Parts: sequence; structure tokens; C-alpha cells
Amino acid sequence: MTATRFAAGTAGAHRRWWASAAMYQIYVRSFADANGDGIGDLAGIRSRLPYLRELGADGVWLTPCFPSPQHDHGYDVADYFDIEPAYGTLEDFDALIAEARRLALRVMLDVVPNHCSRDHAWFRAALAAGPGSPERARFYFRDGRGPGGTAPPNNWVSAFRGPAWTRVTEPDGTAGQWYLHTFAPEQPDLSWDHPEVADHFDRMLTFWFDRGVDGFRADAVTALGKAPGLPDASEEDLLANRNLLCQWRPEGHVAWRRWRRLVDAYERDHPGRDLVLVAEAYTPLQPDLLRQYANHDEFHQAFSFDLTLAPWRAAAWRRAISETVETLEPDGVLPTWTLNNHDTQRSVTRYGRLDAERYESWHSNLVPSDAPIDLALGTRRARAAFLTIAGLPGNLYLYQGEELGLPEVVDLPAAVRQDPVFHRSEGRVPGRDGCRVPMPWRSSPADSFGFSPSPGGPPPWLPQPADWGRYAALAQAGDPTSMLELYRHGLATRRHWLHEHPSGLGWQPGPPDTLVFTRGPLLVAMNFGPVDARLDPALTAGRRIVVTSRYGHTDPAVLPADTTAWLAPG
Ligand code: GLC
Ligand code: CA
Repeated sequence: MTATRFAAGTAGAHRRWWASAAMYQIYVRSFADANGDGIGDLAGIRSRLPYLRELGADGVWLTPCFPSPQHDHGYDVADYFDIEPAYGTLEDFDALIAEARRLALRVMLDVVPNHCSRDHAWFRAALAAGPGSPERARFYFRDGRGPGGTAPPNNWVSAFRGPAWTRVTEPDGTAGQWYLHTFAPEQPDLSWDHPEVADHFDRMLTFWFDRGVDGFRADAVTALGKAPGLPDASEEDLLANRNLLCQWRPEGHVAWRRWRRLVDAYERDHPGRDLVLVAEAYTPLQPDLLRQYANHDEFHQAFSFDLTLAPWRAAAWRRAISETVETLEPDGVLPTWTLNNHDTQRSVTRYGRLDAERYESWHSNLVPSDAPIDLALGTRRARAAFLTIAGLPGNLYLYQGEELGLPEVVDLPAAVRQDPVFHRSEGRVPGRDGCRVPMPWRSSPADSFGFSPSPGGPPPWLPQPADWGRYAALAQAGDPTSMLELYRHGLATRRHWLHEHPSGLGWQPGPPDTLVFTRGPLLVAMNFGPVDARLDPALTAGRRIVVTSRYGHTDPAVLPADTTAWLAPG
């Protein structure tokens, strides 16, 4: 990469819409149900786009909305070129895009390249065609080991617990080969060694770009590509949950470079289109690894998940932020911040855990702490955390319901839980249903808090807690103490003061347990401690608070406990 190209790319990239966007993640099943069947749908989303405009979002990312048997709620795609019937039709999708355009909202979809559904035509054909067939070469089919091939081909484990292999019954009724699945058995891994696989995804990206989509969030990119020969992993790596034979593989990067070339070419051929690819690449506390995905030749962006793994401590946050910024910046990449998504326990609950300050309690997104929860504390902290990430360089992703301060629903009965993680771990891992409970729009319980249109229909696909009404969007709108108004005000303030400053962060000295940094004209200060912090008068002199996470906080010199404030000159 030449110096000239680097410099030009950096300047140009920072002016593109996504460089500093605030995107809103919609979990399609749980956002809004227009036809009253208890399941969210595209028409429901369309009807709520004005709410997102008012919130101050720049666009939406929809979790997979393609035909799927929903074993992993859409992350098991049966057809990449259509819309899941429960969510609507291609016409509904076009209408959604048109309405988003009208409101100047961007639309991103979710592409799942590592695996498809067992119901995908390719997998069905592979099963029917039998061992050694070209149809099986699009997946990882192997003979089992041991007498009769009864043991899996290797010792890899699934990210959702249990073996990463499932044995099939051959067309003649005999016990047959095994196929590899990094996630649930309903999600067979695709072999990217097969040229048709790469071609298929080229066509998919183009198909949706042609329909007006502005970009993709790419699912589980670190799982793509496997070590040739699929050898056993060492016991040590398996125990550490670090199987380098099927994670962070060099083979995967061939695919991402191909995608970037496709996007660049699409933009050249379609002047005015400005597209983005954001990687879901889990690289815990290893920004150097993240950089292998987000760079000039691969993804424009990659989520930095390190804050979702950071304990409630200034030092941990500072480290995660500065390492991410400093590692990505030289490549002209701005960080992508997020505190919540459909795989992570909601921040209000996480920060309310009584052990939230302990490093040991933050070891994994999938296995959260089970310490007692103080929701009032968690809410104060989640407010501060949002305002801090909104003040960082780069772009951010919000997850539906965090703007309402929804807590994790931790007490969903086993009988209603649907996440394969819960079932495959025999209930040992609670799974992710608790952050996927349908949105409350109105305070009245009669119509599932406004999630479905009218009373009397089937209940929402996951039950909403009885007190969900207090979080309803309508109940919060206009209340200056509410989470919703903090998000609206925070995003508007961010746009006003930081739009011209997508990059640049200057750490400043601060009292213990605080983070203090400058961003463009702003001074951002966050207090993790349990008592008020007094900021350096040299920093605060001549400044006023333009937004604070603590309602009623007006003195710029004093930062209350668990609070973030932005100070502007004047
Ligand atoms: C990603 C998705 C998650 C899904 C998994 C398998 O991590 O975010 O929801 O279960 O990939 O597709
Ligand atoms: Ca519906």
C-alpha cells in the first residue's frame, strides 16, 4: 500500500455517510408487528421509521430477514434472494426502502456467509446426492472416525456448545457422513473453497444493492475458512475456546477482499451510491486482529466489541478505547462502537450487576455474570456509557430498546426460551432470548404494549414482562428524565458538535475513576466512581454542559457518580 493511496483514502473515507453514523439495529422479529401474528415484520418496521428519524438515527441494520426455518432466528438462511414470509414480501421490502429514502434513513442488511440453513436447496441436494458427490463439496462433509465411522471427523466444538459435527442419514437409510457446523446443527458451514459459494454471495450482495440497500453487516466473519485437512485442535486451545484451525483463518480474508472489490466496482458503476460493509469479527481485546478485517482492502468497518467486555472501570474503558483507536487509525479506519446487540445481555442489566467492576465477571458475552442486579444503578451507568460512546471518534450502533432503557429479561421460563444456545447447553447458558423480547411502544398491556396492532391476536413470540409498559416509547417521549429523551438529545447534540469531527481524540488528565477527553470543540468526561469528581478547573473554565447523563446536573466543574457530561465552549 503506497503512502499516497493511504492518505487519499483516509481523507475521503472520513467524509462518507457511514464514517460517523449512528445506526440502529432492528431485531426484525421483535420490533413491530403490523399484521397481528405476534411476530415483527417489515410493514411494522416501515410504520415506525419516523420514530427512528426523531430519535436521530442515520439508518437501520436489519437482522436477517430472508426465508429461514428460524432455528437461529434468521441466521439460518434458506434462500438469500427473498424475504421471510412471516416478515413480508419483496414488495414490502421495496416499500420499506422507499420510505427510508424519503426520511433520509440508510438501510443495511445482514449477510450470513459462513453457513446457511439445513433447508437451503444446496444442503438438501447435498443430502440427496450422497457421499463424494459434487453437491457435498459445497459443505464440509467427511466420514466419521473409528469403527463404523461413529465418531466425529475431528474434535472441534460448536460455538453453541456440543460437537461441531452432526451425522446424516444417507439416502439409502444407513448412518452416513458427518457435516461441520460452527454454530447449531441447523446451520451447516459452507466451504468457501468451492467457487460456486463465492459466486453465490457476489450475486446476493449485488441483488440487494440493486434494490437500494446501503450496506451489509457481515455475520460471524471470523468463522469463515478452515485449516486444510481439518485436523484436531489441541486440548489446550479447545479449553481456552481458541480454535485457530477454524477461527481468524487466512482463507477468510480472500473472501473479504473479493467483497471489497465488488463494492468498489459497484460504486464506480453506480455514481452516487456510497456503500459500507461492517464486520462482526469477535477478536476479544486484540485490536491487531480486528485490523486484519477492517482496512482498505476488506471491511470498511468492524465492530469493536471490547467495551461490551469491559468492567465498570475507567482503566478498562480507557485501554479498550485507546487501543482500538490507535490500532485502526493508521489504516484510515474509524472505530465502530456498540454496547448492545441481539447476542449480548442488555447494558442496563450488565452494569447493574453487583460485580460489574470486577474483571473476572466480564469474560464472555455468551456467559454473563449471574450476580444480583441493581437496575437503578445499571440504568445510571448505561446512560453514562451511551453518552461516552456517542462522544468517541467513529460511528456507533444502537440496539433496539436500549434507547428505552430496557433491561435484560432474565426470568423467561425455560419453556418459552428459543435460543439454541440455551437448549444445546441444557440450560446452563441462559442464551440470548432475554435481550430479544418484543418492544413496548405503548403503556397499555392489552395489545402487547403496542407491539401488535390490536388486542385478541396471538401473544408476542416471546412474552413481555408485566411491567414493560413503564418502558414504552410513548410513555417516555417528552419526559426529560427518560432514557429516550437522553438518547434523542445525545444524538442531536452529537450531530451538532461532532459531525465535522469524525476523528481525533485527546486524552486529558482527570481525577481517579474518570475518563476525560477532548473531541473537536467538546470536552467529554465520564465518572465511573461512586462519588462526585471535581474536574480540573483549567479544563472546565469557560465551558458549559451541553448534554449530561444525569438529569439536573448543571455544574460543569463537578461530575456526579456514574455520569458522563459533554462540555462545550461558551
Ligand atoms: C452471529 C450472530 C448470532 C448468530 C451467529 C450465527 O454471532 O450475531 O446471532 O447466532 O452469528 O449465525
Ligand atoms: Ca407480523
